[in-house]
Amino acid sequence: MADAYDVLVIGSGAAGLSLVLKILEAQPDARVAVMAKNALTEGSTMYAQGGIAAVLDSADSIEAHVADTLVAGAGLCNPDVVRTVVERGREAVDWLIGRGVGFDRENSAYHLTREGGHSHRRVIHSADATGRAVETTLVERIRESKATLLEFHITIDLIREKLGDHRRGRCIGAYALDRRTGRVLLVRARTVVLATGGASRVYLYSTNPDGSTGDGIAMGWRAGCRVANMEFSQFHPTCLYHPKAKSFLVTEAVRGEGGKLLRPDGTRFMDEYDRRGELAPRDIVARAIDDVMKRLGCECVYLDISHKPADFVIAHFPTIHATCLSLGIDITREPIPVVPAAHFTCGGVLTDMRGRTDVDNLYAIGEVACTGLHGANRLASNSLLECLVMGDIAADDIVKRLEGVPPPPEAAAWDESWVTDSDEEVVVAHNWDEIRRFMWDYVGIVRSTKRLERAKHRVRLLLDEIDEYYGSFRVTNDLLELRNIALVADLIVRSALGRKESRGLHHTIDFPAPDMVAPPQNTILVPKNFSARRVL
Ligand code: FAD
Ligand code: SIN
Repeated sequence: MADAYDVLVIGSGAAGLSLVLKILEAQPDARVAVMAKNALTEGSTMYAQGGIAAVLDSADSIEAHVADTLVAGAGLCNPDVVRTVVERGREAVDWLIGRGVGFDRENSAYHLTREGGHSHRRVIHSADATGRAVETTLVERIRESKATLLEFHITIDLIREKLGDHRRGRCIGAYALDRRTGRVLLVRARTVVLATGGASRVYLYSTNPDGSTGDGIAMGWRAGCRVANMEFSQFHPTCLYHPKAKSFLVTEAVRGEGGKLLRPDGTRFMDEYDRRGELAPRDIVARAIDDVMKRLGCECVYLDISHKPADFVIAHFPTIHATCLSLGIDITREPIPVVPAAHFTCGGVLTDMRGRTDVDNLYAIGEVACTGLHGANRLASNSLLECLVMGDIAADDIVKRLEGVPPPPEAAAWDESWVTDSDEEVVVAHNWDEIRRFMWDYVGIVRSTKRLERAKHRVRLLLDEIDEYYGSFRVTNDLLELRNIALVADLIVRSALGRKESRGLHHTIDFPAPDMVAPPQNTILVPKNFSARRVL
């Protein structure tokens, strides 16, 4: 392995891989490494269902997509960022098609589906497995490229240049645990990119794969980056409710194609909560379901698409049809039991429009970042769009600057001289469970100051315990993820306590309405070691 790279990209989802391919298209000789803590394909991108939002139909317009994004974002989107991302949608989709991603067609045109909060059909998709089509194609292209692939390497922390007087300079690499050998490597690079995805696994019930533990947010924070809008955890309204189904999403496109939400007695309820019914933005639908479940004391509600012809349902939703059928639910004949589950992290490492963070030569793109696109609530299918557009913009910025960035200096190797193997693995498993449970119970869809204070107390105790454990024992994958998830839980709770209003995804019974007096504010948390220029 080369001892220093031009670019180290941490994360192999839509954001990381599109950035790497763009860099290599612009500068084929660049030495680029991609690090992923699991197999390259494993991340949220692989499980994306609905599709990618972009203005592709002549009856649609950039203005309408911008307006829908701003409405969903409830006053906190950055309008310049929204416009830039939306305007580049068609180019991003064309680039994917050029790399070999196949999207569904109807007659001679691409089929566009509809999701909550969208005023037009504008979601391009590969049946109900769009993420799989995108991820597997990008991974194929990466395997053909010259990039160095570091699979099953979990990044522990970022490294900043030592400037003397305890001051720290630019980011020069990272320490990573090779999960297959147990060795910790030092990987140096001129430029480092966080593309590590979100943190929805901080909650007990989530649509996300196990690795969504907010590692990049935690590493960015520890390295001195500000973190923004962490209170806006997005809960997807419809995750399959079945004892044998782990984290299986039922795409919003089911509602886009006419699916209706039902109480257990078969009556519809969404029209009682919002005039847009089943196609209201996600925060509203998830809260409505939560309210119905609490009022009736039922364990789930139902999503019904069985009034549509069976061949239509099977053609549009083959994955959902097959998965449900394997569990004894025939969605062409009966409704699907569903519950809300944690789905997307709207906040993250604060960046500017080029993906630059507060730390020099450190970028953040994709779900790990807070660019200002999503505001207080992400519009459906805007995430893959953001990954692709920000991957492109950041790649361009990195390539332009690369020559001017000196090679990274030497850095100290990882020191394990004072740690031993853990004899208390049970502590890690127990703390994992405890965090995810109290986050679900106290920091969920509907919050209160009292419950948030409880969560704050619990997370502080756990952070101390985990820090002590981390300082004493050799690192493992589970310990690293636990340390990150505890820190992310703390950032979410602090942000939620700071917002004295309900807005978008943050809903608290103590301040049930938005603050109509003061202008809407982002929540920006500043780490103790923050010392950078302003980015926003
Ligand atoms: P990910 O795809 O999550 O990839 C993260 C990468 O970082 C992985 O390679 C992981 O191994 C790596 N990583 C993380 N931590 C470390 C570490 N410490 N060290 C090394 N590597 C690390 N969005 C849409 O726009 N449309 C949809 O239809 C849609 N459907 C969705 C359905 C589901 C079930 C889910 C879960 C999400 C969906 N989303 C959708 C959201 C969207 O898929 C994600 O926001 C997006 O894919 C995130 O991409 P990413 O590249 O930022 O991260
Ligand atoms: C879905 O298909 O419902 C998920 C879409 C998204 O998260 O954007």
